[in-house]
Amino acid sequence: MMASTTISICVAILLLLIFAPSNSSCRTTMNSGDTLITSDSLVLGFCGFTMQSDCNLVLYVLGRSVWDTKSYGRGDRCQLELTRNGQLVISNNGVSVWKNSFQGEDDNYVLKLQEDGNVVIFNSNENGVWFTNTSVSCS
Ligand SMILES: *[C@@H]1O[C@H](CO)[C@@H](O)[C@H](O)[C@H]1NC(C)=O
Repeated sequence: MMASTTISICVAILLLLIFAPSNSSCRTTMNSGDTLITSDSLVLGFCGFTMQSDCNLVLYVLGRSVWDTKSYGRGDRCQLELTRNGQLVISNNGVSVWKNSFQGEDDNYVLKLQEDGNVVIFNSNENGVWFTNTSVSCS
């Protein structure tokens, strides 16, 4: 019951934000080595962190953009990867087109779309190493 309610809410949010439902998942986290493919999103409540088909990575709250990488127009097959050294990299057909400012040692990093609207990369000691510094309510 609880799980199906959660899934229904995710699907409703996905439709609300006009994501491509065919390849969207309902994750809220990425681990080192994980990718977010073109048109895929992390979704938590009203918040969506979307790797758009225009190559821009955007954090939405109820369809309103609150943070983005301004990498639109850099390709039409862009995907986001959280690397082994904790860096966020957007690449198009294997060519990197955007990277964030953080690069650490090899570790098992986790990127989390948090309830408070902040997107945070944690190292394996659970210390935050990179933040979007966004502050909104996802619920
Ligand atoms: C978030 O804030 C910290 C501290 O001010 C800053 O160093 C960092 O660059 C900010 N993150 C982004 C993505 O701008």
